Amino acid sequence: MSPYISNVAAWQESWDRQQEAYLPDREHRFAAMLDAVDAVRGDTPPRLLDLAGGTGTISLRALHRFPDAEVTLVDLDPALLALAAASLGDRATIVTADLSRPDWAEALPHRGYDAVLTATALHWLPADRLSALYPELRDLLRPGGLFVNADHMPDDGLPELTKRLLARAEEHRSARHAAGAVLSWSQWWHQAEQDPTLAPLVRQRHAIYPTGHSPEWTPPVSWHLTALRDAGFTEVGTLWRGAADAAVAALR
Ligand SMILES: C[S@@+](CC[C@H](N)C(=O)[O-])C[C@H]1O[C@@H](n2cnc3c(N)ncnc32)[C@H](O)[C@@H]1O
Repeated sequence: MSPYISNVAAWQESWDRQQEAYLPDREHRFAAMLDAVDAVRGDTPPRLLDLAGGTGTISLRALHRFPDAEVTLVDLDPALLALAAASLGDRATIVTADLSRPDWAEALPHRGYDAVLTATALHWLPADRLSALYPELRDLLRPGGLFVNADHMPDDGLPELTKRLLARAEEHRSARHAAGAVLSWSQWWHQAEQDPTLAPLVRQRHAIYPTGHSPEWTPPVSWHLTALRDAGFTEVGTLWRGAADAAVAALR
């Protein structure tokens, strides 16, 4: 049973602002993702999986665009899942599962998803696990179903420019954090720990993610395209690109 969070809209807003400081074009990638869902959906309500969905960012935007969608959100973080549950209510099925385990999909209520969507999350998994996850995701899709992963995925053809773009973005972000324009990742979690309802869940989170964040592994977009082809998707490519980030898409 999820706790009652009276100020959930404010937490969602502060999560979005915190994330946008790292991903200024965050909404663009979500729009591209949902355009792709719209392109592959049939006449029935789309069945969507929000993978490592956190507070429900993708689920909320998907339900806004496709109010009849059947949404499943999976994540491991008890604090973010509580915010997702409080925001989504009975409009989505919330599942706690660890994507680093090969049996994670057993916790899902369905198979045959029209789309599996994920953002800024799979860089938490090491290479061998992500390579194994891609075919698992393919198997969860209906034939013709769509997978989209938006994440840090540099363009391998632009190593020097990418380095400079990242350095500029870091300067800009640090200035905003220093001026208090927006919370950093660690400040956001510190703030959440001051909230009486979220505090026990944040403490549970510390036990699940003892380093606060998994070691980041951000291979270039070509790595993802090769891994998706190897996973048996029929069509694979780049749906969206912005600076050092991209969204790769694949059809089963
Ligand atoms: C930066 S957040 C992004 C959340 C959401 N997709 C968004 O864009 O706001 C990364 C998410 O990945 C989840 N995550 C990381 N490793 C995971 C794992 N092994 N199993 C399930 N979820 C995981 C985290 O709990 C967190 O919610």
